[in-house]
Amino acid sequence: MTRLGSSDLDIAPLSLGGNVFGWTADEATSHAVLDAFVAGGGDFIDTADSYSAWVPGNSGGDSERIIGSWLAKTGKRDEVVLATKVSQHPEFRGLAADNVAAAARASLERLGTDRIDLYWAHYDDAATPLEETVRAFDQLVREGLVRYTAVSNYSAERVQEWVRIARENGLAEPVALQPHYNLVTREPYESQLAPVARELGLGVVPYFSLAAGFLTGKYRTQADLAGKDRGQMVGGYFSEAGLAVVDEVVAIAEAHEVAPATVALSWLRAKPEVAAPIASARTVAQLPALLASITLDLSADEVARLDAVSAQVPAAA
Ligand SMILES: NC(=O)c1ccc[n+]([C@@H]2O[C@H](COP(=O)([O-])OP(=O)(O)OC[C@H]3O[C@@H](n4cnc5c(N)ncnc54)[C@H](OP(=O)(O)O)[C@@H]3O)[C@@H](O)[C@H]2O)c1
Repeated sequence: MTRLGSSDLDIAPLSLGGNVFGWTADEATSHAVLDAFVAGGGDFIDTADSYSAWVPGNSGGDSERIIGSWLAKTGKRDEVVLATKVSQHPEFRGLAADNVAAAARASLERLGTDRIDLYWAHYDDAATPLEETVRAFDQLVREGLVRYTAVSNYSAERVQEWVRIARENGLAEPVALQPHYNLVTREPYESQLAPVARELGLGVVPYFSLAAGFLTGKYRTQADLAGKDRGQMVGGYFSEAGLAVVDEVVAIAEAHEVAPATVALSWLRAKPEVAAPIASARTVAQLPALLASITLDLSADEVARLDAVSAQVPAAA
């Protein structure tokens, strides 16, 4: 088990991404994925109130509703660490105090639970004074609606500022960071956020851990993207240097007789600040490769090989 930052949340070091629920996975498939995740030793679920509002016909809150119906059906609330996020739901935008209070209650309602274990500020909100947001998050902790708070997509300076405000005023401090970080996107996380996570003792929970599927090795040419739900996202990772990373991931995976996705996640887990990478599965069949990363420890030499080849990927790629 892994301890998440300074919290008392013990988790298996893999978080199941919830943006597929109600998007590329319907409710029945999502429930099957959640069943298999927990049966396979997973316990950390990541969603957001806005998932998956971008899908025609969805309104936001779709992923939370599906997780809520699964919790109601299985009674597994106490077996999972439940994380959701605020600021991007079409009806609850931003991080003003009244919005945070209302959005958290709406999330609780959809999830069918009395508490959120980890509540993420999804994106920074420059229009709201940071102290107002920090106090709003603290209030949720005081009310027992949220156990721990955390920040996603914040700059290093704003994370430090949040913690300073919390410390000066005796308010709840964030316990975790959720950045975009994977073998083909190391910056700005490594140079800017990792040192802050280290200094402040924040657990890092990277998203796009599989580069939206690019690091599974199933896309080798631009033509492989045609007609795929994630085609546009994956397209952003395509480059010669990125494909060289995939080649190395595949070579190491073959040596361990595991899937490339397992190696991509284990590389993240080998980084000392990383508590648990997030990855989503559209089908039950995709899950074993993700779950295997919980127990695959790469050698120092393998991590160094991956570090070296991924260092060749241009920062903006
Ligand atoms: N904080 C933020 O701003 C933020 C932003 C984005 C995501 N997130 C979180 O991070 C999670 C993960 O992000 P993500 O799902 O977009 O990207 P990801 O984890 O990098 O990629 C997951 C996708 O890769 C494919 N895949 C997974 N396992 C596979 C396997 N074994 N074999 C082949 N393909 C496989 C699936 O897509 P296909 O089958 O469709 O190819 C799956 O949906 C989200 O669910 C969300 O919880 C947070």
